[in-house]
Amino acid sequence: MSSIVIVGSQWGDEGKGKITDFLARTADVIVRYQGGNNAGHTVVVGDQEYKLHLIPSGILYKEKTCVIGNGVVIDPEILINELDYLKQRGVETKNLQISGGAHLIFPYHKLMDAAEEDKKGNNKIGTTRRGIGPAYMDKAARIGIRLIDLLDKDVFEEMLTRNLLEKNHLLEKVYEIPPLSKEEILTSYLEYAEKIRSYLSDTSLFIHNAIKDDKKVLFEGAQGTLLDIDFGTYPYVTSSHPIAGGACIGAGVGPTKIDRVIGVAKAYTTRVGSGPFPAELMDETGQYIREKGHEYGTTTGRPRRCGWFDAVILRYAVRLSGLDSIAFTKIDVLSGLKKIKICNGYRYRGEVLTEFPQTLKVLGECEPIYEEMDGWNEDITGITSFDDLPKNAQDYLNRIMELTGVNVSIISVGSERGQTIVIDRFV
Ligand code: IMP
Repeated sequence: MSSIVIVGSQWGDEGKGKITDFLARTADVIVRYQGGNNAGHTVVVGDQEYKLHLIPSGILYKEKTCVIGNGVVIDPEILINELDYLKQRGVETKNLQISGGAHLIFPYHKLMDAAEEDKKGNNKIGTTRRGIGPAYMDKAARIGIRLIDLLDKDVFEEMLTRNLLEKNHLLEKVYEIPPLSKEEILTSYLEYAEKIRSYLSDTSLFIHNAIKDDKKVLFEGAQGTLLDIDFGTYPYVTSSHPIAGGACIGAGVGPTKIDRVIGVAKAYTTRVGSGPFPAELMDETGQYIREKGHEYGTTTGRPRRCGWFDAVILRYAVRLSGLDSIAFTKIDVLSGLKKIKICNGYRYRGEVLTEFPQTLKVLGECEPIYEEMDGWNEDITGITSFDDLPKNAQDYLNRIMELTGVNVSIISVGSERGQTIVIDRFV
C-alpha cells in the first residue's frame, strides 16, 4: 500500500500524533493537509517528549520528507518557533516542504477570533483563539494571503494594505479594538518570509511524483470527524475538513491515489470546547479518565470533557471517511475500572437512533443507550500482542469491531513508540 490517510474519528485528540509517528517508520513522505496550530501532537521517543502544532510528527525521522499542504493555515511566527524548537533539540528540519498555496494567519485573524468568541457569551464555540476560523474565512472570501504572496514584497504589500483597510475598520468599529500598524506587520512578515522561503515548493507535484515513484505517503489529518465543517457538530466545529476527503483537497491529490484510510479512535471519548456530547461522564469516572489519561489540551491546556466510547460516532466516521480499520488508542487508561460502558445508540423522544443525528438540537436531546461490560485490572502497558491482553480487554475490542463493522488494526497501550500492538491480520 503506498498511500494511507490517518484521520481522527471522534472530536480530535485521539492520539493521531503517536499513530502517525508509528506508521511513519515505514513511510517516505508525511503530509499534513488541514487545520493549523489549533492542533497539538505529543510524540514520545524514548525519554524525550516532543510537542508539535504545525509540523508533521514525521519530522522526527531524519530521512523522511514532511509536507505542509495547501489546505493548512499557517501562523508564520509559530512555524518559525517550531522550526527553532526542533533545531535546538537536534532534529533536522531541512526535509520539510511547505505549499506556497497555504494561507497565512495574521494578527487581525487572532484578534477577530478572540473578539468573536467574547461577543458570543454563552454561545461560545470554544475555539483555540489561534485565528484559524477567520483565516479560512478570508480564504473562502477570496481575500486571503498565501505564503507564495509573501515572497513578492510588492504583491504582499498591496494585498496587506487592502486587507488592513477593511480589518482595521472592523477592529475599531465593531470590536472596539485599536487598529493594527501596517508597517509592523509588513516588517515582521517580510522577515518571516526570508526564514520560510527555502521550504516552499509545489507540494502537490512533489506528492504526485512520490506516489508515481512508489514512495509511501502518509496523510495526517488534524482535529477529528466531529469537528469537520460540513459533517461535524456545526457550529461547534473547526473551519476545515479533517475527514479523509480533506486530504485530497488539502494536499492536491486525486482520490484514486489513496489506498487506505485508518481512523484513530480513543478507547473512550473526549471533547474540548462547547456543544452536546451524549456519552459525557459528569461523575468521578469522567474525572478518573481525565486524570489517568492526562486529558488536558496540548494547545490550550484546557481540561477535556470525557465520556464512554460511542459506537454511533465511530460508525459515522467509518461512513464519512471510508475507514478500512481503526487504530485504537489509550486502552490502558481504562485498566482498573470495574465496569466499562459502550454507547451504541441514542434515545430521542422515545425513539432509538443508531445513526448520528444531523442537527444539534436532536443531538442535544439524545440520551445514551449503553452496553455494559466487565473491566480488567491488569497493567497492560507492556503487552505486545492481542492474545496476551486480558480476556475482558479482548472482549471489549471484539465488541467494538462488531459494533462499528471495522477491524482494529493497531492498539496503543502507552505513549511510547514501542507500546503499540499491531494486529497483522487486520493491517
Ligand atoms: P478552532 O479550530 O480554533 O476554530 O476551534 C473550533 C473548535 O475545534 C473548538 O471546539 C476547538 O476546541 C476545537 N478544536 C480545534 N482544534 C482541536 C484539536 O486539535 N483537538 C480538539 N479540538 C480542537
